[in-house]
Amino acid sequence: MEQSFIMIKPDGVQRGLVGEIIARFEKKGFTLKGLRLMQIEKSFAEKHYADLSAKPFFGGLVEYVTSGPVVAMVWEGKGVVETGRKIIGATNPAASAPGTIRGDFAIDVGRNVIHGSDSVDNAKKEIALWFPDGVVDWQKSVHPWIYE
Ligand code: TYD
Repeated sequence: MEQSFIMIKPDGVQRGLVGEIIARFEKKGFTLKGLRLMQIEKSFAEKHYADLSAKPFFGGLVEYVTSGPVVAMVWEGKGVVETGRKIIGATNPAASAPGTIRGDFAIDVGRNVIHGSDSVDNAKKEIALWFPDGVVDWQKSVHPWIYE
């Protein structure tokens, strides 16, 4: 089953949005497979965002995601990478539709509350980086009520 790496950024944690964000993924029907509250180092943030290292906002982005604890999660379910991105909304909250997490809770691109993997391949890489010991192997007992 497909998995996505979802991370609540320091602003989301500071603003008390952890429960709200978990609830949205949980109520949709996705299964929580991994959950860690972490304070990450600069070098770890640089590794996570390595693809963006040439961007002008890279330094500010690394500073922001290391500025306080983050909640790292693995969510599982059919199409969770693409659907997760829809639940999260567009990168720039000004362009995120109301009803999405960024559309409802953020204003600036540099404080956009949450990260979600943008492809199945990247999800695998990110999960390996953030959960090197693997995730929890369990299935919801409500599975037959979610999947036909
Ligand atoms: P990106 O991977 O393009 O977006 P997403 O998080 O939606 O996959 O960019 C990573 C993060 O970089 C983004 O969530 C916020 C930050 N960022 C900026 O601060 N300024 C920008 O102009 C862009 C494009 C991103």
